[in-house]
Amino acid sequence: MVRKPTPEDKFSFGLWTVGWTGTDPFGTDTRKSLDPWEYAEKLAELGAWGITFHDNDVFPFDATDEVRADRIGKLKDAADKAGLVIEMVTTNTFTHPCFKDGGFTSNDRSVRRFGLRKVLKNVDLAAELGATTFVMWGGREGAEYDSSKDLYAAHQRYAEGLDTVAGYIKEKGYDLKIGLEPKPNEPRGDIFLPSIGHALALIDHLDNGDIVGLNPEVGHEQMANLNYTHGLALALLRGKLFHIDLNGQKGLKYDQDLVFGHGDLLSAFFTVDLLVNGFAATPDANVYDGPIHFDYKPSRTEGMQGIWDSAQANMDTYLMLAEKAKAFRADSEVQAVMKDASIFELAEPTLAEGETVTDFLAKDEPFDAVAAGEREYRYVKLHQLALQHLIG
Ligand code: GCO
Ligand code: MN
Ligand code: MN
Repeated sequence: MVRKPTPEDKFSFGLWTVGWTGTDPFGTDTRKSLDPWEYAEKLAELGAWGITFHDNDVFPFDATDEVRADRIGKLKDAADKAGLVIEMVTTNTFTHPCFKDGGFTSNDRSVRRFGLRKVLKNVDLAAELGATTFVMWGGREGAEYDSSKDLYAAHQRYAEGLDTVAGYIKEKGYDLKIGLEPKPNEPRGDIFLPSIGHALALIDHLDNGDIVGLNPEVGHEQMANLNYTHGLALALLRGKLFHIDLNGQKGLKYDQDLVFGHGDLLSAFFTVDLLVNGFAATPDANVYDGPIHFDYKPSRTEGMQGIWDSAQANMDTYLMLAEKAKAFRADSEVQAVMKDASIFELAEPTLAEGETVTDFLAKDEPFDAVAAGEREYRYVKLHQLALQHLIG
């Protein structure tokens, strides 16, 4: 049984996901491409609520203004007819050879000026189409050789580029926020802003960082051996989780872009648990209520049918996990074990309200280290209950 998504699920897809024709470094296309509006129509039929795209998913790099307007118009009409929201727009600053050393961090200043123009032009388009997030994935911002760049200047230029775009959005009064997308490597040997934490640190350094946040992708954190759900938690704590890219990845490999849940299923379960239930002990914490955006690739072995099967699989997996995660949290046994595990106690500040460090140090507080060392946490029991809900 396949679950039928509703617009309330806010499922959204990049046109480049279903539109990938299978070209990889070792082989050519394994299927033909459709026009962007054809993908949009079919996604709507399957129950998607939104679509997203790079400028050059819709019109070629060297398109004339007429061609550009015509193709955007066709996509917009199709989206309107199908009731699809164009929720996010992003810019391709990685395919054309001119970007081989980066868009914002190329050593060649003329490339940086061209890259900035391309991005700003696309910001106008995003605003015109009503998108609310502008993703920036700096796939070519990076290096293969540490001898090749002044790494301090590279980060300065990255920050300069982001600040310029964010400043432009504000100046124009657009209702748009920037979502940075970290990735550790591929296509560059090392990409700048390799993780959620790195991106947050650079955002802190920006003048216009208030409208700059994150678009973390499951597989990208996992390629760096990091825990995606933990990363989402930190981004939420900082009020910076603006958008998400869900997909699947099996460990430290090339960027697999599998269907959501087809990589680390347990990790996907806890990601969905966070997205649908929020944090267990901190009900006032920031939650994510943005689009559930999938950034995956239908495997090269698949034809047209496989494209639609896999698009549907992302949504179906999410809906199955959401059901399971809700049942898990609503289970009274789960709640009891969570209480035994002191999970709710973690929300209590370590110092009492108004307690100063001096007060704290002056207190002769008994502590039974032996008992604390012997206590049970029951995390394994709790995790097994999660598994029972998931596959029992
Ligand atoms: C990847 C990335 C890209 C970006 C997209 C948005 O596969 O490495 O996920 O797909 O998300 O280009 O700019
Ligand atoms: Mn990816
Ligand atoms: Mn992505």
